Amino acid sequence: MSIILAKTVNEVKSQVKEWKARGLSVGLVPTMGYLHEGHQSLIKRAVAENDRVVVSVFVNPIQFAPNEDLESYPRDLKADCALCEATGADMVFNPEPEEMYADNFTTFVDMTGVTKELCGKSRPTHFRGVCTVVNKLFNIAMPDRAYFGQKDAQQLAVIRRMVRDLNMNLEIVGCPIIREADGLAKSSRNTYLSAEERKAALVLSKAIFEGERMVQSGEKDGEKVIEAMKSIIKSEPLAKIDYVEMVEWDTIEITRNLSKPVLVAIAVYIGKTRLIDNFIAQ
Ligand code: PAF
Repeated sequence: MSIILAKTVNEVKSQVKEWKARGLSVGLVPTMGYLHEGHQSLIKRAVAENDRVVVSVFVNPIQFAPNEDLESYPRDLKADCALCEATGADMVFNPEPEEMYADNFTTFVDMTGVTKELCGKSRPTHFRGVCTVVNKLFNIAMPDRAYFGQKDAQQLAVIRRMVRDLNMNLEIVGCPIIREADGLAKSSRNTYLSAEERKAALVLSKAIFEGERMVQSGEKDGEKVIEAMKSIIKSEPLAKIDYVEMVEWDTIEITRNLSKPVLVAIAVYIGKTRLIDNFIAQ
């Protein structure tokens, strides 16, 4: 295998410094592994736009609450390295948790406002964990550009805000949601679904497509869009709504005003698996 598999911070830093000394640009694709076509689309874009690409594969413990799926989160480093290599990445960074968080680790990056609604409401410590690890990854890989999927739309907004607020020297590139042929948004967590739940999970994309259709056909009442989406989800007995919300795309404040760009985002439990999906109406 010619791709570099780095396990330590120092290995990444010294390789990236060597690339930079030669004037090469660096793209970073932060992931938690178990890579699918959604991640692959980010890696492809990074490869097209940078001289060298680092993919981090790290299931970040501090973004999971104690009752969440840290232990069961799917992992397959061999397959991830093969996908990264086949897609043209140059390095996989796969640290152990102790490499990222020493025993006396006490520094966190946190945010107000943009993290208040949606996933930040249901998972109050999640974005503190995301911002902290993404900040560390930026300091380690020193990328010119970093790539994030729109599937985690609030995460994308949070990271853009962090980069702006803290004057970080890189560009954040948001990439479109990649879906299965039947509409389900690709996610590593889809592997948790039984055959019956996999069918039921289609209710998420059905609700998203209907909401999007209503907005595109000129619906001006945001509440009607939300209610129509909720009623589609409620028609599926295996589905339990965490949230169906409309927020301003830049501030992530609740709105029903469709005259500005909005993010319409949903989080739905299918059995025990929590899935998310969204659309942005500009
Ligand atoms: O989107 C993810 O997979 C994670 O939240 C990220 C950005 C890699 C941070 O752990």
